[in-house]
Amino acid sequence: MEERVWLRDVGPRDGLQNERVAVATELKVELVERLMDAGVVSIEVSSFVHPRWIPQLADADEVFARIRRRPGVELSALVPNERGLDRAIAAKVDAVHVFMSASESHNRKNINKSIAETYPVLRPVVQGAKAEGLVVRGYVSTVFGCPYEGDVPVSQVLSVVERLFELGIDEVALGDTIGVAVPSQVASVVREVERIVPLDRVSLHFHDTRGMAIANIYAGWLAGVRRFDGSIGGLGGCPYAPGASGNVAFEDVLYLFEKMGVETGVDPVRYMDVVAWLEGVIGKPLASHARQVARGACEA
Ligand code: HMG
Ligand code: MG
Repeated sequence: MEERVWLRDVGPRDGLQNERVAVATELKVELVERLMDAGVVSIEVSSFVHPRWIPQLADADEVFARIRRRPGVELSALVPNERGLDRAIAAKVDAVHVFMSASESHNRKNINKSIAETYPVLRPVVQGAKAEGLVVRGYVSTVFGCPYEGDVPVSQVLSVVERLFELGIDEVALGDTIGVAVPSQVASVVREVERIVPLDRVSLHFHDTRGMAIANIYAGWLAGVRRFDGSIGGLGGCPYAPGASGNVAFEDVLYLFEKMGVETGVDPVRYMDVVAWLEGVIGKPLASHARQVARGACEA
């Protein structure tokens, strides 16, 4: 078994999109730079969506322009359509994340289109991004359950994944948008997806609404997945998915793999310094287990 895992921090995007008050542009830039200093080599920085839909990330162009880039670090962003791709290319992103849902209702609420209407919108985005030499990932939401429809048949997930690969994506990320998955379900969905996509092209993106995310990540690891998302401090949530709460905290995922002896490439001590700094920026305690332990240790 390969004892290495690749972690992406989606905190600057998924985390900050869900905060009531927008974080200042220069602090977003500082967050990304601090994450890079801690050794994070894959960061979802922002979204080139309509600013009215996600006002917290309206400064995506500015954030990218100000970040001092590091070799070997991939900075990515969500892109919903060609207008978003133009902005992403101008901002010099390294990777484009197109996104849609496995369930009809969440797709409509989130991007204002049916599933069938979404593919023709994404096709030129994927092709345009590939022509620029960018990595393209397809994020699929509501893979393990939908806030509007409940259970989502795995056949629907496979159909979306298959169509996205036909459009030309390089990798897929399976999202548990509202944190309903359990480990046995993760294992079975991964087994099904593996029939059509090699697992080195699959990542898992868990929200932690019911405290299952670390168990789900471990189930994904046992099933052979080596790519996982986390969000600093456990921030996150989709404003168009009622009941969605934070992502699994990146620092808790880090603890899991470090203690298992799996290489992450991230310095946990430096990472925890970024968590403490971000707590000051956000102005409220961050809820990750690792942060609570660190706070307790400080008070002792
Ligand atoms: P729409 O209103 O249907 O867009 O929204 P439209 O194509 O009809 O365009 C309407 C106007 O918006 C036009 O301007 C466009 O130019 C403009 P007008 O001509 O009226 O002046 N416009 C844009 N402006 C800037 N940037 C753009 C853009 N696109 C159109 N990219 C749209 C459709 C997809 C744009 C909208 O629904 C949207 O922005 N949705 C984003 C929702 C979102 O970001 N949700 C959260 C992220 S997904 C998530 O969190 C889940 C994930 O974490 C995985 C998981 O947890 O499962 C990824
Ligand atoms: Mg998410």
